[in-house]
Amino acid sequence: MAQRYAPATERNREAILAVLQKHLPNQGTVLEIASGTGQHAVFFAPHLTQRYWLPTDMDPANLASIAAWREEADAANLLPPRQLDVRDPVWAIDCDLPAPVSAIVNINMLHISPWSCCEALFAGAAKTLNQRAVVTLYGPFKRDGVHTAPSNAAFDEQLRSQDSAWGVRDLEAVLGVAVEQGFACQNVIEMPANNLSVVFDKT
Ligand SMILES: C[S@@+](CC[C@H](N)C(=O)[O-])C[C@H]1O[C@@H](n2cnc3c(N)ncnc32)[C@H](O)[C@@H]1O
Repeated sequence: MAQRYAPATERNREAILAVLQKHLPNQGTVLEIASGTGQHAVFFAPHLTQRYWLPTDMDPANLASIAAWREEADAANLLPPRQLDVRDPVWAIDCDLPAPVSAIVNINMLHISPWSCCEALFAGAAKTLNQRAVVTLYGPFKRDGVHTAPSNAAFDEQLRSQDSAWGVRDLEAVLGVAVEQGFACQNVIEMPANNLSVVFDKT
């Protein structure tokens, strides 16, 4: 069966939706990077009408899962998934969209990918977005190099033992990359289970 299931999406989706409803522009296409199973996309899209929602991922099995969830969903504004690796030198997603990309949403990717993906995310966002467009991140972060909870420290250790290039990122390092690419941090929001949402806008 193509449909994948990630239980965490059901635990965090309401809190993330509240952030998106407050901070996303109310028009345009929302580009979701690293959509995973597609469960977030099918949940968010019907709550964010007036925008189109474009789910993407680098993994073909995830793209099949997103397509399968989408087929069951009742969301006219949910676009078919497209393949996108943030490290692609050109993000080939912008040419035939129903509306320009007004926001990028990236949930739980930065710690499960090499640091180069953070750099590529903001470099690609800078090329894709116009002024006043928004980037939102969600996930666990260190603050000033320190874990915010023992559970995040344990998670970090587990990630690094799986792949030494992975790990919970330091928020200040992420902010540095964002600023270099022309984004200003607008909001850092504490979320359940020691996660953060971080909202940027293009200056
Ligand atoms: C932990 S999952 C999170 C999925 C989903 N956002 C969620 O919260 O359930 C990490 C996701 O990042 C994606 N990913 C990792 N590296 C990527 C890259 N370089 N470009 C795009 N997606 C990437 C993986 O394919 C996977 O879907």
